[in-house]
Amino acid sequence: MNVAGLAFADWMKHVQSTMEDALSSFLPAAAEVPERLHEAMRYAVLDGGKRVRPLLVFAAGDLFDADADLLARAAAAVEMIHAYSLVHDDMPCMDDDALRRGKPTVHVRYDEATALLVGDALQSQAFIILSEGAGDAARRLAMFRLLARASGSAGMCGGQAIDLASIGKALSLAELERMHQLKTGALLHASVLLGALAGKSLTPAESAALDTYARATGLAFQVVDDVLDATADSATLGKTAGKDAADNKPTYVSILGLEESKALAETLRNDAHRALVPFGEKARRLREIADLIVQRKA
Ligand code: IPE
Ligand code: IPE
Ligand code: MG
Ligand code: MG
Ligand code: MG
Repeated sequence: MNVAGLAFADWMKHVQSTMEDALSSFLPAAAEVPERLHEAMRYAVLDGGKRVRPLLVFAAGDLFDADADLLARAAAAVEMIHAYSLVHDDMPCMDDDALRRGKPTVHVRYDEATALLVGDALQSQAFIILSEGAGDAARRLAMFRLLARASGSAGMCGGQAIDLASIGKALSLAELERMHQLKTGALLHASVLLGALAGKSLTPAESAALDTYARATGLAFQVVDDVLDATADSATLGKTAGKDAADNKPTYVSILGLEESKALAETLRNDAHRALVPFGEKARRLREIADLIVQRKA
């Protein structure tokens, strides 16, 4: 198949279906002991989600002629970390949500202890996937470190901690941006860099441009998530709408208002596009993903 020639919507479907197969094969079989944990891991990861992080991994990988197997492993690894973050984010001790990806959340469908373990085990599985397969060991180690940093207290977990500590507080714009960059931006940023790392070495200028793109896109993603929480309905989102206001969370909408938040998302999209200019037409997919992130309805 001429993947490069596909329209964006078809390319996206192609990556999503490739990912579904890859994720399924990288997860333990449901029949394997302990069956209930493995079944719940598969429930959390498969059959749902937009797969935005894998799209970024593949788009950046294509730009730098990455090895296909390493790219699939990186994409699956980051999606598993993301799925784990969602399972824990929905637990009663965090956002206490009953709906995710149009299905009951893992702690509702199974139980809280299982949800905790699903998250733990998905995190381990992500690094197992990245550790296996052929390829250069030094490159793989760099990818390990990048994903670990983006997931931990200097990344997603750190952002989630700030999110929970900020309930009912009026954050400054700088504090809000930091929280969003960590809890959501970090994994999206890492997705772009993982794709690039899987390919040929980057010049310092290319690294800087990609970094700017990844930061703008990562922040835009959570700005839009905040906007959709306030404007879309639960059926469209596949998760409970209006949750941020109900939980008294500081968001871009609560601090900037709806219109300014939408304008900020547009500004970030322009920043992302501008950063890609030096790459020319080859960066088309990354440009299209920035558009998707800002224009999405769910
Ligand atoms: C939702 O992420 C949680 C955030 C980090 C904002 P997504 O909107 O990417 O969720 P899925 O993977 O498509 O379900
Ligand atoms: C979640 O932010 C970020 C992570 C899961 C790390 P939200 O709490 O806003 O995500 P949703 O809206 O529940 O998907
Ligand atoms: Mg949350
Ligand atoms: Mg949440
Ligand atoms: Mg949200």
